[in-house]
Amino acid sequence: MKTTAVSMREMKSKGDKITMLTAYDYSTAKLMDSCGIDAILVGDSLGMVMLGHANTLPVTMEEMIHHTKAVAKGCDETMVVADMPFMSYQATVHEAVANAGRFMKETGAGAVKMEGGRDICKQIEAVTAASIPVMGHLGLTPQSINALGGFKVQGKDRANAEKLIDDARMVERAGAFAVVLECVPAELAALITGMLEIPTIGIGAGAACDGQVLVYQDMLSIYPGNKPKFVKQYCDIGSLMKGAFKDYIDETKSGAFPGPEHTFKIDPEVIEALRKQYASQE
Ligand code: KIV
Repeated sequence: MKTTAVSMREMKSKGDKITMLTAYDYSTAKLMDSCGIDAILVGDSLGMVMLGHANTLPVTMEEMIHHTKAVAKGCDETMVVADMPFMSYQATVHEAVANAGRFMKETGAGAVKMEGGRDICKQIEAVTAASIPVMGHLGLTPQSINALGGFKVQGKDRANAEKLIDDARMVERAGAFAVVLECVPAELAALITGMLEIPTIGIGAGAACDGQVLVYQDMLSIYPGNKPKFVKQYCDIGSLMKGAFKDYIDETKSGAFPGPEHTFKIDPEVIEALRKQYASQE
């Protein structure tokens, strides 16, 4: 059964943890789908892990649509959530609905994600009213990196924790079906999770959240940039890839690759005739 905005809420009420990973291409999405992941987020983190930007701000709608289409093709059972990039929804409610609509019409995504609390509740309401499920995103919201002053844990003091709690309630009231909590102290995330009827999906927000999400390059150790404290490295694919690339270079240089098993045959009579024909022309 395909995961939906409705089934995610049911999972919370049953206490079934929700699993989500990011993906940006068909092959990776297909692998995750075959493993039974509940949701794939086509995160705007693609700006960093796929496109090499220093942050997520340069990511465009066209890039997000391009990658979301590829991911959706790889998903039979998995819900695909498309991240709305910086400035595709902040300026006006009209732009938010139009751009969320593009994801639904053009990509095969089942929901969109937007970063922010009280400031974007009007957008969440309008997009939800257009029958497009919205996942919220609070705490460390990378699109606000310049306003937040860096990649920092959020909600550590009482005033900021209260603001985060209020924002979470507002996002729920505006109609979001779930909310990502990023880089929030575990006990605060647990408090928020208990207050909301919608599921919380944590990233650096502790085990009490209703689900977890990670950027897959982080968990597989592929991305060369900083690895945040909250990432568990499930395997070191980066080292495996480097080993394979080095072996390929060495074997190609030495002539060990390609071997006979990697090459195609031609009828010996044909090749002999060709040799004679071209030798006579030299
Ligand atoms: O863009 C992204 O990958 C995200 C996750 C970190 C939640 O927003």
